[in-house]
Amino acid sequence: MNTKGKTPGSAGRTVRASVQQQNGLTMRKRDMTPTRNTNLVPNATFVGDRFLGVRLDQDELDHANHLMTSQLYGNKENLNSSMSEPNSPERKSAEGEALKQMMRHKSAGVLTDAEDGDRILCYKKNLAPPPAIGYINQAKVVLYSTNNVINPASSVKKSTRHVKETASKVLDGPGLTKDLYSRHLDWGCHNWVAVALGYELYLWNTETCVIKNFFEDNAPTNEGLITSVRWSQDGRYISLGYGSGAVKIYDPNRPKTTEYVRELRTLRVGGASRCASIAWRKQGVMTCGYKSGDIVNHDVRISQHVVSSWGGENGHSRDITALEWSSDENMCVSGSSDRTAKIWEGRFVRGDGVIQDPEPQFTIDEHTGQVRTAQFCSFRDGILATAGGINDGTVKLWDVKRQCQKVRELNVCETGGVGGIVFNRPYSEMLTASDDGFLRIYRFNANYKLSHEIQASNEPIMDLVGSPYDEVLIGDMEETLKVFQLFSVDKSTNILDRTDSKTIEGYNHHLEEMYHKYGKIVKENLGFGRKHVIHLFDPADAQTVLAADGKTPFIVPLQETTQKYREMKGMNPGLGNLNGPEWYRLRSSIQHAMMRPQSVQTYLPFSQIVSEELVKHVAKEQVRFGHVNMQKVAGRWSLESAGQILFEKSLGSLGDRSEWADGLIELNKKIFQLSAKMRLGFPLFRLFSTPSWKKMVELEDRFYAEVDRLMDDALDKLTVKDSDSQNMRFASYLINQKELNRRDVKVILLSMFSDGLSTTAPMLIYNLYNIAAHPDAQHKIQKEIKEDPTSTKLPFLRSCIKETFRMFPIGTEVSRITQKDLILSGFHVPSGTAVDINTNILMRNEVLFSDSPHEFKPQRWLEKSKDVHPFTFLPFGFGPRMCAGRRFAEQDLLTSLAKLCANFDIHHRGEPITQIYETLLLPRGN
Ligand code: HEM
Repeated sequence: MNTKGKTPGSAGRTVRASVQQQNGLTMRKRDMTPTRNTNLVPNATFVGDRFLGVRLDQDELDHANHLMTSQLYGNKENLNSSMSEPNSPERKSAEGEALKQMMRHKSAGVLTDAEDGDRILCYKKNLAPPPAIGYINQAKVVLYSTNNVINPASSVKKSTRHVKETASKVLDGPGLTKDLYSRHLDWGCHNWVAVALGYELYLWNTETCVIKNFFEDNAPTNEGLITSVRWSQDGRYISLGYGSGAVKIYDPNRPKTTEYVRELRTLRVGGASRCASIAWRKQGVMTCGYKSGDIVNHDVRISQHVVSSWGGENGHSRDITALEWSSDENMCVSGSSDRTAKIWEGRFVRGDGVIQDPEPQFTIDEHTGQVRTAQFCSFRDGILATAGGINDGTVKLWDVKRQCQKVRELNVCETGGVGGIVFNRPYSEMLTASDDGFLRIYRFNANYKLSHEIQASNEPIMDLVGSPYDEVLIGDMEETLKVFQLFSVDKSTNILDRTDSKTIEGYNHHLEEMYHKYGKIVKENLGFGRKHVIHLFDPADAQTVLAADGKTPFIVPLQETTQKYREMKGMNPGLGNLNGPEWYRLRSSIQHAMMRPQSVQTYLPFSQIVSEELVKHVAKEQVRFGHVNMQKVAGRWSLESAGQILFEKSLGSLGDRSEWADGLIELNKKIFQLSAKMRLGFPLFRLFSTPSWKKMVELEDRFYAEVDRLMDDALDKLTVKDSDSQNMRFASYLINQKELNRRDVKVILLSMFSDGLSTTAPMLIYNLYNIAAHPDAQHKIQKEIKEDPTSTKLPFLRSCIKETFRMFPIGTEVSRITQKDLILSGFHVPSGTAVDINTNILMRNEVLFSDSPHEFKPQRWLEKSKDVHPFTFLPFGFGPRMCAGRRFAEQDLLTSLAKLCANFDIHHRGEPITQIYETLLLPRGN
């Protein structure tokens, strides 16, 4: 690490050349000339007040607000609602229509009787589902309940649960290679099944009945027989392993303008042949197993894609037959024809250089035949199942958290091997498919008892895969594919078990799943006196709800626990937790000071002070530790900003009180984490003082004691003045409002403080991450700042921030309790219903954002796309209850990102950032 020189304007202070962040983001100190040369670090400059306060560009939200207030609200033409119908007829491409036609043709039975050559993936007679009509919700008579997806009724947990033993759909699959060790099928998270028939790949949507020949419009591949097929976890890419040893990655969503266009890349490893096992990690790393017994981890995003290999003396000696990652991605299991299974630690996937042949954590060698498949249990943490092929026929269960002890051995198939395992979370069951053509269900809650045996085929079953919902698909040696609806759940329950920690962390995925399964309006029963909530996924419905808001919109508090705590302590619940006239009284007192863009300019100098402090702090951290943990720094930054705005002083968070700041931020984080669990779990805390509630009270007590001290310190120093309240800072402004007493002022400050603390910091992280991951965008931002340092606009940086809100929305919903009867998506929703507007979680949806929705494309916001309905994108909510800190948040983000980009080159190292639900969608990890 070199000290590169003095910083003009910082009195000879020296700065370090580069700032490497512990938690991924790396910043390299730079001067005012934007550069991508990371070694070039001349005199770094801390510049002065170059960012003047500006009114942010009119975005969709303002546009919508305007429309609302100018009575144009109901005018569909003005709002260009063509995007509001996810499957509106206009949006159906000619290709899709043609394919559907074809499918209808097929499902009507015509092709079933056709020549053999035509009988590619066609339905068996009388077993075709009805053709898809419009959207997946064909019957609009009732709102759907999601109980069946999440948790079965208590009744179904009885051993006598009914299982449909006949296939619901059967397809011919001529060409399905008779190879027990190839993986021919994979069911993606978006409900498309990929089917490899010899040299061909077909995509089949089991809901809409569309079937596509994937290579029909792609150049044929010369790699030979397909030996494995696997969707990436997010369903964006398909990877195919070939007999030649090559692995190809395709993007099925890419438009077909030229040949090869869907093929993204081919990954080859010298000397490797036959890749029959592929497992994806969440972001970009693909683990592949080859005939030689070698396992190679490829980072598909970089040109030198091999990041590690697991083989040699520590590895397998014969073909890799199975590869699976555990859901937390801390472990990977491999099965092999050498009769062993090995468990590899996730940390061995990557490092600074290529990791070669580490020792596996455990080796399982108790199978008497080849290990044909292996799966981690989806509902019991640490349980792994390995299944043997011919001459074995067992499934063995291991507890990998307890030194890989054997938990149970099940003799599944007397006459052959076991070809597939699927775990069923709602019923805590394991399903096996075996060479005798049987599907067998074992119940974990009944001592692994065999509860059902279904003769699914007369031939060995080669493949078994589960759908994202309640179905499974098998492929057998009769060249037939069959769908069984084995896991449908009794809908009579009202109890929704969302207490499982994985379900909570993935609450946003749960919402997405509901949308994909049920469509744009879903009723979810919550049980335990919580009645139900209506989830909306349609911007037009969002518009209807928000238009009916009136003067005092009612909400379900984001944190019921905080509301209860404050009530218990005799405190006012605060802005985000109040409804009715009391909310209106407090909110109207701050409206002027908080919401008008002009008023917020008063705080600009303070925002700039904080951003300069941030730049100095980042540079100092680098000098002290040799790296910068940006998650920590972002928290300190948001606390410092809150101090300047709300308490009118520096809190020293970016200076000598950073440890104190870290403690307070950690406390706030814990409150949000626990609050998320209590929100989605059974609300017993409403009735009893549960352990969770006691913990919450302890956390809130400690948090409140700190904040109370801060508020008292600030308010004791402020006095009532006669001067113009227009130019006062926030606390002074409040104290000068005649209708507010000190208690009111404290309530408002507390609400603003706690709500602000948990939102802007993660948004800074998401923005830096996107900027780091897109050097072109970074360069453009730096150029924009350099070209006109006094500009108040920075349109490109603003569009980057907006695009980050799209890609990493921080909230899952904007909630309301309806105060009028409304018609939403054709359903009557009575007044007093809890409604969650969930459009924020659909920000990467292909239908809503047709132009590369998964890519960071800031320019989409500069092009003023007419396509997107303004009520799709609601990061700050809308109407009278819109985020009270919006203007602060926007200004702080803009000012500080501009300062960071002007002073550093930003890089990200380590794992890509993903989101976890903790009341808000926060960056995973610390
Ligand atoms: C990027 C940062 C932020 C985002 C994305 C955000 C988002 C939101 C959203 C979606 C709401 C609900 C709006 C509605 O129901 O229509 C809200 C409410 C609120 N936000 Fe923010 N917020 C952010 C930053 C802040 C900051 C910095 C503060 C304080 C300085 C703040 C204070 C509040 C308060 C007090 C409410 C409750 C308003 C009421 O119920 O009257 N927020 N925020």
